[in-house]
Parts: sequence; structure tokens; C-alpha cells
Amino acid sequence: MILLRVQRSLVAPGTKRAYHDLITLPANTGSKPIVSHGPPGYSAVSGHTVTVFGCTGFLGRYLVSKIAKMGTQVIVPYRDEDEARHLKPMGDLGQIVPMEWDIRSDAQIAECVRHSDIVYNLVGRDYETKNFDFQSVHVAGAEKIAAVSAQCGVPRLVHVSHLNASASSPSKFYQTKALGEERVKAAFPTATIIRPGAMYGFEDKLLNNIAMSPWWWKLNRGQTQIRPVHVLDVAQVLADLMATPQMSRTLSLPGPSTLTYEYLLDLVSAVTIRSFHSYAPEVPRGIATAIAKVAQSVWWPLMSPDEVTRRYLNDSDVPGDWAELGITPTEIEALALMYLRRYRSTDTYTDPVAFPTRPSLVSILSLVLSAQQSA
Ligand SMILES: NC(=O)c1ccc[n+]([C@@H]2O[C@H](COP(=O)([O-])OP(=O)(O)OC[C@H]3O[C@@H](n4cnc5c(N)ncnc54)[C@H](OP(=O)(O)O)[C@@H]3O)[C@@H](O)[C@H]2O)c1
Repeated sequence: MILLRVQRSLVAPGTKRAYHDLITLPANTGSKPIVSHGPPGYSAVSGHTVTVFGCTGFLGRYLVSKIAKMGTQVIVPYRDEDEARHLKPMGDLGQIVPMEWDIRSDAQIAECVRHSDIVYNLVGRDYETKNFDFQSVHVAGAEKIAAVSAQCGVPRLVHVSHLNASASSPSKFYQTKALGEERVKAAFPTATIIRPGAMYGFEDKLLNNIAMSPWWWKLNRGQTQIRPVHVLDVAQVLADLMATPQMSRTLSLPGPSTLTYEYLLDLVSAVTIRSFHSYAPEVPRGIATAIAKVAQSVWWPLMSPDEVTRRYLNDSDVPGDWAELGITPTEIEALALMYLRRYRSTDTYTDPVAFPTRPSLVSILSLVLSAQQSA
């Protein structure tokens, strides 16, 4: 027996449990210690059990992939079983645990969180449906997840909000996001609130939407300012929170640069080598709102009047908390080709990209020129 133990520890030293593998979570409310073992990677056991509400969405898939790769058991609550299937191979056998849930059911939420030491809430919707308005998803739903997690003794909660969340915003989406944050903090005072800017990536509603419906991005003459952030950078921050001490505060994650929709239209046009930009009409706000109202009569999501309002709102200019988190956010130009190449034709598929000039550079140059002229 002793020989067998010696042999095991020699052959696979990483699999031997040691005292230093015992991790007690910061602000742990007396629950189980976290014991990690095994070689690093897919087949490791990080000891953590994590619940990711909103795992079936855009950000959710990247977060689940990152934490499952570290050997964490991930509870993936789903409404439609097919929507969670792609998550299954992201972790080792038995490590991805799908569970059906309804955001209105305390019992189902409790069942999803009762074994977890961290709960992530990524649930959000940028349009309202017959059954769920912004209030029920961003406020009532967020509060319920926070309250039930607190009742079940979950040590940590990470709630994803929005960079522009503000109670005084003219957009109902941003208002409810702010109200949701307040309710979450009241129900779970040590929660970490994450506020990402508009995210871009393979399944985003930013670059893909610009490539498919450029005219919607010419609202406000394309002058609305946006701070796009890479979805994988946000997912990395969320995944890293698992191993960092409790951060009971709000962290803003805007992209590294402030750009205009006009620049993004130029960028997408340049990368996809399509000149749609010049042909796209500029729709006045009143007409856009009227079209959006009429569009709500169909049962699939189309641009809502609230989204038209958001197209006229600049992103909040709060500084980002990236340095503290040890991550440098990626500039959109570095990845635009990877995400947009599929919109190119076969003739131009491999052509190099000539990136448009950044608006900030243009304005700096015009300032320099006007200064030179007046001198
Ligand atoms: N995407 C962005 O650019 C951006 C920017 C800033 C902040 N955020 C915030 O970041 C979070 C994640 O964004 P995302 O882009 O990944 O969102 P997403 O792709 O729209 O996914 C949203 C997730 O929420 C779930 N959900 C929505 N309504 C629900 C309901 N009534 N009951 C239960 N689940 C519901 C969806 O589940 P189903 O699959 O079952 O529908 C899905 O898993 C959200 O809170 C969003 O507001 C996003």
C-alpha cells in the first residue's frame, strides 16, 4: 500500500493532495474549504463549484469555457436544453452540470446555487418580450438570484451590469440595470458588480450588426461615442475573480479607446472591403423611433424604441479598472479581421486591410493645423 502511494506520487506528482492545496475562500462564510488536485488543465480539479446564470448567452459561453478549462465544476442553468448543449464539452466528464431553471422560481435558483462557492449572474436582455420586460429580468430577476444565493450561504456573487447603467438615463435598459445593481447590493452586500462596455466577438451584436444593417448605425450622424471591449477580456476578468480576494465593489470595464459609430462603420467597411457605408441612408430619430415601434408588432426581436434612444447616448467616460485586474484590453483593430472576414467576398477574402484613420488622430491633426494657421 505504501509502495503504491509512493509510486503514484512519483508518476503523477500533481495528483497528490497537499496541505497547501487547501484554499479557504476570502470572506468564506464557514462553508467547505476548496481543495484543488490533479495536473493543471481540463482534467484537473480546481475544487471550485460555480454557477453561471446567463451561460447560454454571448459572454456566458466564454466564461464557462475559461473556468471549465481550469477543472472547475460549472452549473449551467438553461431554459432551452439545446441552448446549453455546446457548453457540455467545455469541461471534463461530469464537470458541466446543466440544470433547468426559471428566473421566477426561488426553488430552482436555490437548487442551482446550493453547492456553489461563486455565483455569476450574466442574465440580461437588450429587448423586452411578452413575458419578460427589463424590470423583471434586470431588477426582479437579479434581486432574486442575489437573495437566494445569500440565503443558501453562497460566499461570493458576481453580477454583470452595464457600463452605462444609470438611474437617470433616458434608456429604460440602462435605468433597470442601475436599479438591479442597487437591489443586488441590498440583498448581497459583498457582491462584485462588473460593468462592461459594448462587447465585440464572434457572436456579438456590434460588428455583426454593423456589417449586416449599417443604416442603423448612422443614427445621430454616427457621432455617438462608444467604448467597445473584447468579450474574451471581460470573460478573463470574470474568470480571474475566482482566485482573487473578495472585491465588494463596482468594476468598470470599458474598451481601451473611445470611438464613434462613424469610425466603426468605416472600420467594418474597410475590413470587409464593402462600400456599403456610403450608400447607407441617415434615418432621422423620429422616423427611426416610429419604425422601431411598428417593428415591435412581430414576434422576433427587431430594433426597439429603447435601442434607438441608446444609439443617441454616449458611453460613460468613467475610467476603467483594468490595471487593478492585471489585464490590458485589446484594441478592436487587432481582432476586427478575425471577426469580420466572413463578410468578405471570395474575391477579396485574403486581401490585406487598410485601416481607416482613428477619429482621435483626425481631431488632433485638425487642432494642430488650426493652431499652426493662427500662429
Ligand atoms: N453584449 C454586450 O455588448 C453587453 C455589454 C454590456 C453589458 N452586457 C451585459 O452582460 C451580460 C451578458 O451579456 P450577453 O451579451 O452575453 O447577453 P445575451 O447573449 O443576450 O445572453 C443573455 C443571457 O441571459 C439569459 N436570459 C435573458 N432573459 C432571461 C430570462 N427572462 N430568464 C432566464 N434567462 C434569461 C439568456 O438565456 P436564454 O439563452 O435562455 O435566453 C442568456 O443566457 C448581460 O447582463 C448584459 O446586459 C452585455
